[in-house]
Amino acid sequence: MTATTHARTPSVGILGCGLMGAGIAEVCARAGADVTIVENDEPAATAGRRRVEKSLDRAVASGKLTEADRTVAWSRLQFGTDWDAFADRQLVIEAIPEIADVKVEAFRRIDAIVSSSESILASNTSSIPIMRLAVATQRPENVLGLHFFNPVPVLPLVELVTSLLTADGTATTAERFAREVLGKKVIHSQDRAGFIVNALLVPYLLSAVRMLESGFATANDVDAGMVEGCAHPMGPLHLTDLIGLDTTLAVAESLYQEFKEQLYAPPPMLLRMVEAGLLGRTGRGFFEYA
Ligand code: CAA
Repeated sequence: MTATTHARTPSVGILGCGLMGAGIAEVCARAGADVTIVENDEPAATAGRRRVEKSLDRAVASGKLTEADRTVAWSRLQFGTDWDAFADRQLVIEAIPEIADVKVEAFRRIDAIVSSSESILASNTSSIPIMRLAVATQRPENVLGLHFFNPVPVLPLVELVTSLLTADGTATTAERFAREVLGKKVIHSQDRAGFIVNALLVPYLLSAVRMLESGFATANDVDAGMVEGCAHPMGPLHLTDLIGLDTTLAVAESLYQEFKEQLYAPPPMLLRMVEAGLLGRTGRGFFEYA
């Protein structure tokens, strides 16, 4: 995948197979890309494989994918723990947790492994400025943000984030991939913490937590208010559980660090819940999950 050849379907590498990495891997494979997924260790790779498998099963069960297409998509996915598998990739998408230092180190490592100087390195970060990741590499002009939304197979949006150093050709090639290959709707954001969606969404989620924290309303009523009164598909507290309280906190901290505005400051209730390991859908968050 180079800025000059505009390959339609690049070979893809994905670092991280959590909720987001698994979803990105699935949509890439279903769109025809050969996808290599790298996780930290075997248990994480196995869990990631299982996550993609379950989502493909769900797509077949709901009639969105045929058995035959599922088999072909599955054959395009390779799961492992060896970063060297990124060497021949034309596009690598990083989808690891929102911890800036860990992401910076990952970009440094991926850059040293990916052999073609024309390959594109993308981050699925929700909030960390792309420039911080770009300058960790020897190819800042080939680095950009491709930010997907959870659940990735369902939500059509990708935010495309260019840094001051991203080359126009990199942005054009990545946009064509997201739009023409993956069939996503692409919106463009400058390189500011939170980009467009999280800069708007996270203050809303934090307001819901503050409302609950202050005893203003119950969790059920906060959520029912937005579902029944504003036709949102889910209320803010269920959505925070879906995103993950740890991820929501990390995004809030990035936004607060960048803008120093009170509306981005994480409320103590969110901090305490994350410290307690109440992270949302994986077990318990504002609501309980079986
Ligand atoms: N993977 C694949 N498909 C899924 C899915 C998943 N994880 N979850 C739901 N679906 C599919 C279902 O198969 C179903 O498809 P059909 O209608 O064809 O059967 C459809 O989505 C609806 O699912 P359900 O009927 O189970 O449930 P629902 O109608 O309540 O929808 C939802 C669930 C799609 C999650 C919906 O509630 C929703 O869109 N919620 C808002 C999600 C949102 O705002 N996400 C953005 C979070 S912000 C973010 O991701 C970025 C960040 O940086 C933090």
